[in-house]
Amino acid sequence: MMAVEVKGVSKHFGGVKALDNVSFSLRQGKTLGLVGGNGSGKTTLLNVITKMVVSNKGEVWFNDERIDTMPAYKIARLGVGRIFQTGGIFNNMTVLENLLVAANAEREEAEAVLREVDLHEKIDDKAATLSGGQMRLLEFGRVMIRNDELILLDEPFAGVSEANTKKIERVVRKLQKQGKTMILIEHDSRRIKRLCDKIIELEKGKIIREAKA
Ligand SMILES: Nc1ncnc2c1ncn2[C@@H]1O[C@H](COP(=O)(O)OP(=O)(O)OP(=O)(O)O)[C@@H](O)[C@H]1O
Ligand SMILES: [Mg+2]
Repeated sequence: MMAVEVKGVSKHFGGVKALDNVSFSLRQGKTLGLVGGNGSGKTTLLNVITKMVVSNKGEVWFNDERIDTMPAYKIARLGVGRIFQTGGIFNNMTVLENLLVAANAEREEAEAVLREVDLHEKIDDKAATLSGGQMRLLEFGRVMIRNDELILLDEPFAGVSEANTKKIERVVRKLQKQGKTMILIEHDSRRIKRLCDKIIELEKGKIIREAKA
């Protein structure tokens, strides 16, 4: 089954064509690598899928259901989760609270998830005290506790230490084993080859290359 189908999506900001007639599909359980230079439209594509940005044209389907006509909260409830390029967590909340605000769960469940992302020792710390990589790991914990089915990852390795990079790769692989579908924005071509099934390259909002990873 196709988990994601994007059909002829365009989005312009004034005169800037951020997305120009983008179409692709992604099978359930597969990981798509999304590449392209700065400003090529990668984040905008994730924003359109989650409806944080409303497209000008085209359709988005998730599990055979049209979602571009739905409000963002409904799309999230269908199991679409996101790891943001920046600003994805609540700095003034504790690590635990960042999970509980995202899912209807108990402390024990949160603890188990935090163990998987190696943050269990930080459970009662303010999220603001975490390093950049640990913040990304906490966002992974959030999609895990929500049990999201489609996970959109916006440069989760950018600016992350080597140790945390390894942890994040391990978590990505674990999610893949569980059958999650992912779209991963990433610049490192070797990492893309390691983690992705297929690649799409954007340039000025257009797909200029679609290939097996
Ligand atoms: N909210 C917005 N308002 C106006 N222009 C925007 C907005 N969001 C994106 N753009 C523009 O759309 C284009 C695509 O931006 P986008 O953030 O999707 O690129 P990107 O591929 O994610 O880039 P980067 O690698 O730098 O993260 C850019 O020209 C950007 O300036
Ligand atoms: Mg971006």
